[in-house]
Amino acid sequence: MQKLYIKGGKSLKGTVRISGAKNAALAIISASLLAQETVCLDNIPDITDVNVLLDIVANLGVEVVRKGPDSVEITTPDRISTITPYREVKKLRASNLLLGPLLARFCNAEIALPGGCNIGSRPMDLHIKGFEALGAALSLEHGFIKGCCSRLTGSKIYLDFPSVGATENIMMAAVLSKGQTVLENVAKEPEIVDLANFLNSLGAKIRGAGTDVIKIDGVDQLGGGRYSVIPDRIEAGTFMVAAAATHGNVTIENIISTHVEPLIAKLREANVEVLEEDEIIRVIAREELRPIDIKTLPYPGFPTDMQSQVMAMLTVVKGTSVIVENVFENRLQVADEFKRMGAKIKVEGRTAVIQGVQRLQGAQVKASDLRAGAALIVAGLIADGDTEICNTFYIDRGYEKIEQKLISIGADISRI
Ligand code: UD1
Repeated sequence: MQKLYIKGGKSLKGTVRISGAKNAALAIISASLLAQETVCLDNIPDITDVNVLLDIVANLGVEVVRKGPDSVEITTPDRISTITPYREVKKLRASNLLLGPLLARFCNAEIALPGGCNIGSRPMDLHIKGFEALGAALSLEHGFIKGCCSRLTGSKIYLDFPSVGATENIMMAAVLSKGQTVLENVAKEPEIVDLANFLNSLGAKIRGAGTDVIKIDGVDQLGGGRYSVIPDRIEAGTFMVAAAATHGNVTIENIISTHVEPLIAKLREANVEVLEEDEIIRVIAREELRPIDIKTLPYPGFPTDMQSQVMAMLTVVKGTSVIVENVFENRLQVADEFKRMGAKIKVEGRTAVIQGVQRLQGAQVKASDLRAGAALIVAGLIADGDTEICNTFYIDRGYEKIEQKLISIGADISRI
């Protein structure tokens, strides 16, 4: 089993380049199955989640050709398998994003239920409600969601919660349906806009992505094309927080600053200097940091995917900070690992109260999910002495070349 070792106490300084967005890439690779012709995708990050999804679609009979370190060509013939087994789905919950495209183009989909995960129960009721409204029949049989339909028909659908996955899945299903679909109370994350832009570049007719209402006029088929995925705002945010927490001075390249605006606002509130230029952000932490309060919310609120990393930073900020996790119920559990490093945190329900201590102490710790893993890296960077992080596979799911990037800006980190 691989482990990451960190010798804490170094300020991060230098320039780091951000890779393509994991969550946009996962949705766009899934959406590629809708295309009748070859699709070439650029800025695809080399991370486990993406590689697992590419293997899953290749196993369905989709032709996947690597065209370089961050490019991939995807060709989906008219006949492929539409069954995704549990042994694959359990490696990647986001493989449920194949349901929409498979139903829309092949009128059939059987996807093993992904089950819970370490950050909460993650139901799929909203996805299913949407597919049913479009005319698909869905059932749960032997641990599989089975869906079938004749051509889907446009409909008006209101999401009870602006779920990212449900918005993407229903949008992908509606693209090839008969007539118009109106999706209300949808997620507004940048990855939704990226997915809509990609689909429109293939001939889809989607309007309103990035607002509360998305309108989709169904088309008969989608063509091919070339598309470059947006930069990963969560990877960028993780480096921004690591820079701030280590009192560093880091320039982050290949970033769309509006996508990290909620984090920029909170870092500034914490007394961190953040300079925004075209596709570049500089984070400088000269002064003592101040405590802050955070509530996670759907975009443009503060992202749940940045909550753990910010908690790591706040463990050593003098005063009291409060974090309320509104999106995933189990996402405060990383606090237990920080406490093993000397942090003072009280968790009650969805709220964590963090009393800043002077220093964290390096310790052996365990990642329980992807962002908790990233947060433990931040904690290790600011701790006295050595930190050993196990379950590194969680981190590799979403961060490309994490230790090489950190070493290039002065961190003492290695993998064994
Ligand atoms: C996506 C992201 C994940 C991010 C999350 C919230 C991907 C691959 N993953 O996950 O990194 O943390 O958005 O920004 O893009 N819910 C339901 N019923 C449903 C669907 C969701 O109740 O049918 C609930 C979930 O339990 C959760 C909340 O909605 O409490 C948000 O989930 P959702 O936005 O769907 O997250 P994901 O798409 O799974």
